[in-house]
Amino acid sequence: VTPAVHIVLVGLSGSGKSTVGRLLARQLGRPFIDTDDALVRRAGRSIPQIFASDGEEHFRTLEADEVRRALAGPPAVVSLGGGALLHPATRIRCVQQYLVWLDVAPTALARRVAPRGDVRSRPLLAGHDPVSRLTELLTQRRSFYAQAHLRLDATQPLERVVQAAGAALAGCTLPGAETLTIQTSATAQRRSYDVVSGRGILAQLPALLRERLPVRRAFVVSTDAVWPLAGELLREAAGNAVELAATWQVADGEASKSIASADQLWTWLAEQHAERGDPLIAFGGGVTGDLAGFVAATYLRGVPFVQIPTTLLAQVDSSIGGKVAVDHALAKNMIGAFKAADLVVVDTSLLASLPPRQVANGWAEVLKHGVILDADLFDLMEGDTERCNDLDPDLTLAAVRRSLAIKARVVEEDEFEQGPRMLLNYGHTLGHAIEAAAGYGQLLHGEAVSLGMVAAGWMAARLGLLSETEFRRIESTLQRLRLPVRLDSVDVPLVLAAMQRDKKVRHGRPTWVLPQRIGAAIRTSDVPPELPAQALAYLQQPASSAVAARR
Ligand SMILES: NC(=O)c1ccc[n+]([C@@H]2O[C@H](COP(=O)([O-])OP(=O)(O)OC[C@H]3O[C@@H](n4cnc5c(N)ncnc54)[C@H](O)[C@@H]3O)[C@@H](O)[C@H]2O)c1
Ligand SMILES: [Zn+2]
Repeated sequence: VTPAVHIVLVGLSGSGKSTVGRLLARQLGRPFIDTDDALVRRAGRSIPQIFASDGEEHFRTLEADEVRRALAGPPAVVSLGGGALLHPATRIRCVQQYLVWLDVAPTALARRVAPRGDVRSRPLLAGHDPVSRLTELLTQRRSFYAQAHLRLDATQPLERVVQAAGAALAGCTLPGAETLTIQTSATAQRRSYDVVSGRGILAQLPALLRERLPVRRAFVVSTDAVWPLAGELLREAAGNAVELAATWQVADGEASKSIASADQLWTWLAEQHAERGDPLIAFGGGVTGDLAGFVAATYLRGVPFVQIPTTLLAQVDSSIGGKVAVDHALAKNMIGAFKAADLVVVDTSLLASLPPRQVANGWAEVLKHGVILDADLFDLMEGDTERCNDLDPDLTLAAVRRSLAIKARVVEEDEFEQGPRMLLNYGHTLGHAIEAAAGYGQLLHGEAVSLGMVAAGWMAARLGLLSETEFRRIESTLQRLRLPVRLDSVDVPLVLAAMQRDKKVRHGRPTWVLPQRIGAAIRTSDVPPELPAQALAYLQQPASSAVAARR
């Protein structure tokens, strides 16, 4: 494994992290740190004492500090407490290292823990039936552990686990940063901008910035949900090298994509004496990026703009392509501009704290890129939806990079959305309408797009453009990515009316993006007028047994 990273062991209480960690450290000639032990030493109290007097939340904060300290030191083998990954920033930090999950079935664990009377020293187990309590804990934490780079069956004797870990670590390297350059005419100062992607590359921010912008200081826009969760990571990355002059947190959520928020940001920047050369950094999801980009496009007629997207959707979609906007009472994204970023930093480790629904939301757009332009990307995801759902680090980075490459190619070809870029609209013609008709906030964008992709796919199959088999593959993959493929109740006239109002509808006829096969799609407005309503009716049918069977 790359010498610079830590090997971090996670797993339920009793899975053998300390034993395996100590042996592994000896074998690799690295120091060993047990963050629980370190914490107890520092606090001068036992874990049950801390739990009893200060509560679990306080313990989690101390634990997160302890992990941060351990990971700031020289590369070691680090064993974490069973619940350490509950802390979002800890999760992000650990995904940047080499994370190993010692997976043991709760029944085997209970046998290991109970006879030694260890239950008393483990406050989360005390007073419960160990098997059911461990099962409950595993259910709660599985999605965190599943982000590990390596999952080992730790039910086997621990010496064997150490052997297996050693063997796996010997042959593995962590990916470096990769740069994708997008040609543009939208940025006055430059003809291209870089999208740098990788896992844990946020730490390289000062160098990435300095290579491209003569920055002295930068202003950060984030939200009141993202900043408390991940702001410390940005602050650490900036260190002393880049002065984060000030940060502004808008209220989390779509409502902040408004002229009122933009106005607040303009005022803030003016009060801070932000100048023409001072970049604005968007640190958050698509809402943050769209709003901050709009402000960066307009404040002083434009200041440099840097995107550090923190949602999957923003990483693969909204942060590149240069479209920025705020919403208007009459329509979403109505007031906006083309403002290409000067730099986009896509660090997939930041996704480690995303809730599952936001993960699925982003995968919808990635799969869309696969359906319209990249059969290999589609196959990659179709073959491993479980690992997509788990945000498996390698698969996620690979899929994000392919997705970025596709979007980059399309926006380069058609920066101002005259033609080819419309392909990206697959699933969006009805998707946007369904999203609007449901009332914003009911369905996430990617969820509505999933429904739109099913509807447009069904239309393509109806028209004989797409085979039934490939249509089923699209539908079933969306479903296995935990995206909706059916709607209980659709107000068909309402959705169709919303579709007619879409800003991309010209002369009353929507342009449809219809797949011909997986990896290729066409644009057409030549669609029988009754077909969209029939597609919406299809969405109300119960999921076919073919789809259900593949869940
Ligand atoms: N400009 C474009 O080309 C383009 C393209 C697609 C979508 N968009 C826009 O993007 C917006 C949607 O973006 P979004 O889905 O990212 O929404 P969002 O910015 O609201 O983020 C979704 C949620 O994820 C949370 N979150 C963000 N990062 C997190 C992290 N690392 N860990 C845990 N939680 C985190 C946020 O707090 C928020 O609640 C819409 O406004 C849409 O119009 C723009
Ligand atoms: Zn979209």
